[in-house]
Amino acid sequence: MSSESTDYWEKIYASNGTMSSAGISLHFGVSFELITQFSRPRSSVIDIGGGSSSLAGQILLAGFRPITVLDIAPAALTRARNRLEPSIQAEINWLGGDVLSTPDLRSCDVWHDRAAFHFLTSSQDQAAYGEVAARTVKPGGHLIVGTF
Ligand SMILES: C[S@@+](CC[C@H](N)C(=O)[O-])C[C@H]1O[C@@H](n2cnc3c(N)ncnc32)[C@H](O)[C@@H]1O
Repeated sequence: MSSESTDYWEKIYASNGTMSSAGISLHFGVSFELITQFSRPRSSVIDIGGGSSSLAGQILLAGFRPITVLDIAPAALTRARNRLEPSIQAEINWLGGDVLSTPDLRSCDVWHDRAAFHFLTSSQDQAAYGEVAARTVKPGGHLIVGTF
């Protein structure tokens, strides 16, 4: 994990806790629609760089599971968990780590990333991301990557 990246994101979450100040909408309706339209309930989902979003809780309620939220900033995961009912929090697998160096990502049917890939600016990191995604998403699964 890059400690520099972790520090950067930890500071952002410590200062305001939301992405709205970075111009990122707090509404994740498009993500929810894409996941629920193209995949069936009981599909497994990983939310890469899930941040403080409550998307994981919403898709759990829509019947998707297991769900993993991965984020490089532990503070983001704490905020995301705190936005959900304890019973929902407990059903989600919360994973702190860098998408490029988390060894044991479980294979999934749906890979969702809204605005994390965007921050991988070198071609090496982008290629490494593609490799991780390719070996994690099951055949016939879906890759949803939102950038800005
Ligand atoms: C712009 S925020 C988007 C958060 C959320 N997906 C949303 O749409 O509200 C980007 C998120 O990606 C996380 N992140 C950045 N680089 C990452 C990496 N290499 N691995 C895992 N998470 C990362 C950050 O901590 C941050 O929570």
